[in-house]
Amino acid sequence: MDAITCITTRKSIRGFKPDPVPPDLLREIFATTLRSPSYKNSQPWEAIVLSGAKKEALTQRVIDLFDAGAAPTPDLAEPRAWPPAEEARIKNLYKRRAELTGIDLGNPEIIRKAKKANFGFYGAPHAIYLFQDASLSLWSLFDMGLFAQTLMLAAHAKGVGTVPQAFATDYAREIKEFLGIPATKRLILGLSVGYPDPESPANQFQTDRAEIDEIVRWVE
Ligand SMILES: Cc1cc2nc3c(=O)[nH]c(=O)nc-3n(C[C@H](O)[C@H](O)[C@H](O)COP(=O)(O)O)c2cc1C
Repeated sequence: MDAITCITTRKSIRGFKPDPVPPDLLREIFATTLRSPSYKNSQPWEAIVLSGAKKEALTQRVIDLFDAGAAPTPDLAEPRAWPPAEEARIKNLYKRRAELTGIDLGNPEIIRKAKKANFGFYGAPHAIYLFQDASLSLWSLFDMGLFAQTLMLAAHAKGVGTVPQAFATDYAREIKEFLGIPATKRLILGLSVGYPDPESPANQFQTDRAEIDEIVRWVE
């Protein structure tokens, strides 16, 4: 698959086959991902691949916290407000998704269900958590974004689906404890990882994008 096709056909996968991804293939995907650029080649990223009984146990732990009404403990706060242009795009996403899939993320009960689906990694056989030292600057957070995108593209090029999940870090403090990640690290992103289920209704949805001229200005 060429780079342009890989970028334009990648999408978030939220329905997976149960088949595990062979460990050698996951290693190959990470070997590619490690080529991501970073500020001064500092490579400020660490990852945990979670599978099997441990993944199920973490899901249960997080769902128990959620059902008990425990306050979330994310290392990166969930945004509470957006500038107008970004807010309009989010509303557009919610509206289109509700029309096409019936999943209305404006509805609190649906949000609860959606959160639980996130905590269960959408049934994927693997989850990946990305984290880094909490003392690192915002540039390192930027680097982690590049790492995450390279990971998703490298996986997609090998037929492996992913979805990046902020929600999977809602209970960062407890997740770090469970995974043995020191409290001095910040948990940045969870990703569900596995082979896409082409029949899954969740995978039929295709997001759109703003027009080029809404984003790019040409100055001469
Ligand atoms: C930083 C970040 C956090 C996200 N968090 C979630 C999440 O918690 N749950 C989820 O289902 N999707 C999540 N997404 C996926 C976005 O909804 C998705 O990337 C966006 O709608 C564009 O769709 P596409 O990935 O299919 O192109 C997240 C994406 C990013 C980049």
